This record gives sequence, C-alpha cells and structure tokens, in this order.
Amino acid sequence: MNTYPLRITRRRIETPDTVSLWLEVPADLEPAFGYRAGQFITVVAERGGESVARQYSLSSVSEFDDDLRITVKRVPGGAMSSWLVDQVHEGQLLDVAPPRGRFFVPPEEEQHVLLLAAGSGIAPLYSIARQLLSARQGHRVTLVCANRTEESIILRDDLDRLRDAHSGEGLAVEHVLSRPDASWTGVRGRVDPAFLASRWPSWREATPSSLAVYVCGPDGFMAAAEQFFLSEGVAGHRIRRESFDLVLHDDAGDPDLVVHAAGSGDAPVAEEPCELVTATVGGETTEVVPEKGEVVLAALIRRGADIPYSCQEGTCASCIAKVTEGTVRMRPIALRTLHASDIEDGLVLACQARPVTKRVHINFDDL
Ligand SMILES: Cc1cc2nc3c(=O)[nH]c(=O)nc-3n(C[C@H](O)[C@H](O)[C@H](O)COP(=O)(O)OP(=O)(O)OC[C@H]3O[C@@H](n4cnc5c(N)ncnc54)[C@H](O)[C@@H]3O)c2cc1C
Ligand code: FES
Repeated sequence: MNTYPLRITRRRIETPDTVSLWLEVPADLEPAFGYRAGQFITVVAERGGESVARQYSLSSVSEFDDDLRITVKRVPGGAMSSWLVDQVHEGQLLDVAPPRGRFFVPPEEEQHVLLLAAGSGIAPLYSIARQLLSARQGHRVTLVCANRTEESIILRDDLDRLRDAHSGEGLAVEHVLSRPDASWTGVRGRVDPAFLASRWPSWREATPSSLAVYVCGPDGFMAAAEQFFLSEGVAGHRIRRESFDLVLHDDAGDPDLVVHAAGSGDAPVAEEPCELVTATVGGETTEVVPEKGEVVLAALIRRGADIPYSCQEGTCASCIAKVTEGTVRMRPIALRTLHASDIEDGLVLACQARPVTKRVHINFDDL
C-alpha cells in the first residue's frame, strides 16, 4: 500500500477524548487525494515496534477545504488513536494512504437523506451533510447525533454553524443524549427502535421522493437501525452503514458469499481451480497465478502489486474492488462492510475473495 507523508497543519481539541487534525496535500498529490464526502484515509505509523494502519473518515469536504481533516476519538489502550489524540503535533508528518470507501451519497436530486451518527460516527456524516447542503440540489437532510453527555458531542461547533447556515433550507439536526446532566433541555435517551418509531411519521412525511439512510456508529446501533428501516419498507440498498468497530465476528459455519462478475447475473457457474488472476490498480494491470485456496489480495501482494489494504480481516473496506470477469467466494464477514446490493454489483473485499473460476479479473480503480 502506497503512503505519502502529509503535514499536520492544525490540531484542534474537540472533546476531552477527541481531536481533529488537518493534513496538507501537496499540489502534486492532489489527484491521488481527491475524495467524496464520506470516504476515509488510512494512517500508517510505527507503534510499539510494529507498523500499524488504521482508517479515519474525512470530516472535511473537498469542495471547500484545502486540507484534509480527520476527527479521531481515543480508544482506551488503542495503539493509533491514543497517539493521534495525545502525541502528534502541528508541523509533524503523517504517512497516509489515499482516500477509499463506498460510504458516500451518489448524485441524485431531491432526496431525503437521513444521517444517524453515534459518537465518532459523526465524522463522515458531518462531511456528507455539508456537501449535500452546499450542492443545493433540493436535498432534505436530517442528522441525528447520539452521544452520552453534552461535552462528548463531537464537532458540536461545526454542527451548530451548519444548522445556522441552513436552517429553513432543508436541514434538521437533533442531538440525543443518553446521560445528560440536569441542565440539558434536549432529547434524553438512546437512538433505538423506539426513538426511530417516534420520529418515523414526520421523517416519512418530509420525504419528497426517495429516502436514503446513512448510519455510522457501533455495530449494535447500526444493526438495530437497519432492522427498523427494513421493517418499515425502506429498500436494503438505500440503507448504508460504515463500521468503525474492531470486534471480530465468528462466521464459521455461515455459507460463503458467491460473487460473479458485474453484469453477468447470478446463474450458477462450474467452479474449477483458478489459473490466472488479473487486477487493474492505479491504471496498471498485474497478473498472478494464485496458490490453492489463496485469496486475491494475498496473491497480488506476493506478486508485488501496489494494492490498497489494511486489516486483511474483512472489516476496513480498504481493499474493495469489482469483479469484472469470473467468480469468487468470500467469507460472510464481508457483509459487515458490503451490502447485499454491492455483492450483486460484483463488489468484493480482495482480502476475502478466493477465485473459483479459471480466470478472474478484478478492478480496484473503477468502483
Ligand atoms: C472505515 C473506517 C473509518 C473509521 N473512521 C474513524 C473516525 O473517523 N474516527 C475514529 O476515531 N475512528 C475511526 N475508525 C476506527 C479507527 O480506524 C481505529 O479502529 C480506532 O481508532 C482504534 O484504533 P487503535 O489503534 O487506537 O486501537 P487498537 O490498538 O486497534 O485497539 C483498540 C482496542 O480494541 C481492542 N482490539 C484490537 N483489535 C481487536 C480485535 N481484532 N477484536 C477485538 N478487539 C480488538 C484492543 O484490545 C483495544 O482495547 C474508523 C474505522 C474504519 C474501519
Ligand atoms: S484489507 Fe481490510 S477489508 Fe480487506
């Protein structure tokens, strides 16, 4: 994975355990660091004698902000987040891999975009809200932020500014606190199915044509929200999640996901040993003969290809790519990151994809 040294131009304390860091992109790297609101970068650093790579969503918007911004919350005992929150300083260089990810709103006019954030999940959703409102394409944006206390609300000033700039223009922001102090006059409780049910009639009424739901927070929070909207008839492909969680899921015993080339339908194929994997990345094509049972990512790394990846566990989405020839099988854990509709579109996580047809081609560039 190629990384580039980016200078920290600014550091701002957001809450007692969260900072924002602004990163300057030199002019010659601007094409590589173009991004859409909702995408993430990967920060790589030596921590405790090991190279550690972690993803951070961009809380900046490319249309307005010269520098990239990430907003990092300290995870107790966390190798990377503790360092970024407590130790890095303005002027320092960070090694960063360019933006990736599928958590963005495709261009579509006049939809109601419902954004549900818990804790640091606000980072990509703030960026999405700001970008959508500035595009002035008739979007209605409803942003719900779940936190414990008032002082733990991340990006509070940015959210207030956004609300002031767009009040009456289709933005609604609601803060929900689970442990507020006595002075809090806003909503108390959790953003759980009961809360969603209480808001659903007004959200549905405020939906001009179509509704899209974007959720970012702990896995349990996202699963409950997804279940709620599915049960209310929102189509699965209109509910998108971004998972920050580190929890490993035991998916042993669950059936593999079978992913065919985009556009080839899902007719069963005769599986046979793969003789050649080809991959397009950064405009270049790499060929490799995979070893028995080897996943596409491992084969390409063995061949020396410059592939974006990080966790190799199916949780970070860095290695997302599209199958354009042949068929692969993936561990079901990939459904934590990909949606069923992504899989119908031929999207895979290369770190989980075992080629099962004679030839397989995957494209990392054109998702
Ligand atoms: C797409 C994406 C976007 C993200 N965006 C943001 C963001 O905008 N802001 C933000 O603050 N964070 C974000 N994250 C989370 C971030 O990448 C890190 O996971 C987080 O900062 C913790 O990393 P760490 O190195 O500090 O913690 P680690 O050292 O990795 O560990 C943290 C804690 O989890 C435990 N742990 C470690 N590995 C596992 C494991 N495999 N299973 C179970 N427990 C484990 C450790 O024991 C420790 O207690 C994002 C993650 C993803 C995948
Ligand atoms: S490398 Fe993280 S999902 Fe594949």
